Amino acid sequence: MVPVITIDGPSGTGKGTIAGLLAERLGWHCLDSGALYRVLGVAAQRRGIDLAAAAPLAELAAALPVEFTADGRVRLDGEDVSDAIRTEAAGAAASQVAVHGPVREALLEWQRRAARAPGLVADGRDMGTVVFPEARLKIFLDASPETRARRRHKQLKEKGLDANLATLVEDIRARDERDRNRSVAPLRAAEGAFVLDTSSLSISQALDCVMKATRSALPDLAWRDDG
Ligand code: DC
Repeated sequence: MVPVITIDGPSGTGKGTIAGLLAERLGWHCLDSGALYRVLGVAAQRRGIDLAAAAPLAELAAALPVEFTADGRVRLDGEDVSDAIRTEAAGAAASQVAVHGPVREALLEWQRRAARAPGLVADGRDMGTVVFPEARLKIFLDASPETRARRRHKQLKEKGLDANLATLVEDIRARDERDRNRSVAPLRAAEGAFVLDTSSLSISQALDCVMKATRSALPDLAWRDDG
């Protein structure tokens, strides 16, 4: 069975970056499940599908014309949407389509197929609780909404985009509320998860903690560039 490490948590905790770095150090594949929900949200909006309409969304999810290319780009209907899916609006749309059970069901097999040798690091909200319950290690990253909003604010400024910190805090709270309180696969730490609050940690400090947890849970792993 292909070994899987899951990293769940809300956005702005460093989850995606850490999952990518950990996968790189292990020479494993990486699944950014949030990107899938984001593509679905964007695809639905482009087709004029109501984000509250579970059945047409599930139908779209089951045959989503998405492609994740080897160079890390995301294509929808053949068009590069890598930047378009990273906006706040795409995040909010993703969170809305993600509340529907039939949508999550339609994306389940797609995500499970990402578990290929030699291993997979999967990041999202329900990787440890629903998609990969047999994962060898389950990690849950958290951080305060204010810290996460500040990080997002910095990222947007660096991209030359205008952002209001107070609005970002509000948006993050709203998205958390929806992700944590939905009836299907709500955001929560899996049983036995290694929980880490990254509020006062840099990416490299958080990565160190995650690597320590990985070494202790999977002592026989081979590491790349491990000084
Ligand atoms: O990780 P992210 O910010 O790219 O995720 C965007 C939204 O997608 C998130 O607010 C909720 C949803 N999502 C989910 O429900 N389950 C996942 N495994 C990943 C993301």
